[in-house]
Amino acid sequence: MLAELTHRCPLHCPYCSNPLELLGRDSELSTKQWISVLDQARELGVLQVHFSGGEPLARKDLPELVAHASGLGQYVNLVTSGLGLTEERLSDLAGRGLNHVQLSVQDAEPESANLLAGTRAHAHKITAARLVNAAGLPLTVNVVLHRGNIDRIGAIIDFAEELGAQRLELANTQYYGWALRNRDALLPSRAQLDAAALVVREASERLSERLDLIYVLADYYADRPKPCMYGWGSRQFTVAPDGDVLPCPAATAITDLRMDNVTTTALADIWYRSDSFNAFRGQEWMREPCRSCDRREIDFGGCRCQAFLFTGDATSTDPVCGLSPDRHLIDAILEADAVAPAFVMRKAAP
Ligand code: SF4
Ligand code: FES
Repeated sequence: MLAELTHRCPLHCPYCSNPLELLGRDSELSTKQWISVLDQARELGVLQVHFSGGEPLARKDLPELVAHASGLGQYVNLVTSGLGLTEERLSDLAGRGLNHVQLSVQDAEPESANLLAGTRAHAHKITAARLVNAAGLPLTVNVVLHRGNIDRIGAIIDFAEELGAQRLELANTQYYGWALRNRDALLPSRAQLDAAALVVREASERLSERLDLIYVLADYYADRPKPCMYGWGSRQFTVAPDGDVLPCPAATAITDLRMDNVTTTALADIWYRSDSFNAFRGQEWMREPCRSCDRREIDFGGCRCQAFLFTGDATSTDPVCGLSPDRHLIDAILEADAVAPAFVMRKAAP
């Protein structure tokens, strides 16, 4: 379960996958409601909880929620920008059962990193990584790649090593929410991606003993889509700050799909019986060319959100797929030779 505790965040990254309409503090679930979500999730079989946001440290009740999840036997991951992570807070969270920290990093260079974050965040990340190492917790560093930082991918890998990461996720931007808003400014060129792939391959071999390196591809440049969510409603779900339960973190992009909310419907009912979770489960919903394609159990027809965003119909084949009749929509974006516009920075949640 991805528990998005809040949309509040001290950073303003233009590639944020949060929706453009950010939820304010007033719409957030209460502590009691989150405790109930954790209980119901455990009952449902959830063994891993990722506390995320926004910035989950913005919630004062995070220690209580970590303790509760841990008490239920759940593996607890904190997905954080590192801002607000002091020695006292981390030691408290570790004492309450926090198992792992995933720290976002914008770049290896302070100036570019701070520009991307929209605030002077870089130095805080170095401090946060040091605290996580000192607490003996495993550390994943997550870096979203785009046109502005991908040329420094070698330096970014070195930087993650210096931070003491055991795992490094180098994730090319996926275009949802604010990232979609900023797509023209973020999209790298094919030459940039080819160069980056070589660096990643060399680093994966060189560091295989000490750093688990995950490289998330830029799907617009691929010929077949990503197996998004490993199938809709099959392995995971997201609870948004207001209690809406989403089959994927970007699912509010599918505006004709109504989401159920944990304040009115039991989590198990939503998982097993809701229209939203059953909409694209299995293969019945598929149309051609997916329906008769021998890759339909490998990539599940790609991403439902991307299909909707491009075609207005979430049952379409993901237009990234070379077999999709809509692939030309992606190609037109790749072929447009526009000058990259300035970023629209993610605004603060109300
Ligand atoms: Fe995947 Fe559908 Fe493309 Fe086949 S047609 S590769 S199932 S997206
Ligand atoms: Fe929603 Fe891919 S991001 S299904």
